[in-house]
Amino acid sequence: MSIPRKVIFDTDPGVDDAMALYYALAHPGLEVIGIATTFGNVYVEQAVANALYLTALAGRQISVTVGMAQPLVKKAEAPPDFIHGADGLGNLPQRVATAGALDPRSSAQFIVDMARQFPGEITLVAVGPLGNLAAALLLAPELPTLVREVVLMGGAVLESGNVSPVAEANIWNDPHAADAVFTAGWPLTMVGLDVTHQVILPLSLFRQIAEHHQHIATDTLHHAVAFYSGFYSAHDAAVGQITGCYGHDVLAFVVLTNPELFTLQAGRVRVAVDGLAQGQTMMQRKAVSYPQHGWHDDIPHTQVCMQVQFEACKAVIEATLMRDWMLKPLLALTE
Ligand code: BDR
Ligand code: CA
Repeated sequence: MSIPRKVIFDTDPGVDDAMALYYALAHPGLEVIGIATTFGNVYVEQAVANALYLTALAGRQISVTVGMAQPLVKKAEAPPDFIHGADGLGNLPQRVATAGALDPRSSAQFIVDMARQFPGEITLVAVGPLGNLAAALLLAPELPTLVREVVLMGGAVLESGNVSPVAEANIWNDPHAADAVFTAGWPLTMVGLDVTHQVILPLSLFRQIAEHHQHIATDTLHHAVAFYSGFYSAHDAAVGQITGCYGHDVLAFVVLTNPELFTLQAGRVRVAVDGLAQGQTMMQRKAVSYPQHGWHDDIPHTQVCMQVQFEACKAVIEATLMRDWMLKPLLALTE
């Protein structure tokens, strides 16, 4: 048995974030050692509440930390409650009282502490706006030499954007932080819309998973995905045909567990931080030297996912979530 990979999950939960979290908890090759939170799909306070709730429902005690409440430079926008629900989990009708305390450190400090404690072992999987990673780089400029690798869900190279013709939501939400992450010089993989728009997951898959487990965690996920699928099915004809949704964030874990399903291309990626192209991830796809400022040879390369084997990817997600992985929910003690 190989040792599971230590992961810090940096997230704005969020329905596909919840899917991703449960995939990571279910997969024997991954060990989630902590959760960093950020604004994005919800305000950061809600992101924290959701991270604590989702882990407690699955019976897991995992450090949850409070992260960025707003972008580094640009003005914050209202969260997209029409995609994820006002609570980020598809407007749950009620929540059971759960146990679980917050780690007092900021998400950035937690990332730095863990990277120093386990040099060369930590994989950062970031599926929201990237302010926590940018803040961690400021706290510890040597961070790129301490972590094993970074995988982020965000951006688009050949595919159109989902919040503007060229921008993907996570990068749009904090373009300055994203550019700092793309230029930091750590082993970095980008899982953007080029692949996430190739993976449409049917709502029926999450119903089957919930029916199989008969557990509050997968019931909650099914409820959340039903709301989220409603949005995508109404707005995208290809998704509407099967009543489903894009799995976006879960693919950031699938690329770690099943890299053979992806085709990657290496190149420099920079982010447009303002103007009409704000939030665009621009990739240098030709192996030539450009003399222009910002594109010099010392800018590090990113591994960008360009293609994914959709059916195999869906099968891996299904098989993983069908495993026997949940424990008894951690409920609050009542008198
Ligand atoms: C990304 O934006 C968020 O809404 C999703 O959770 C995902 O991380 C997709 O563009
Ligand atoms: Ca997300």
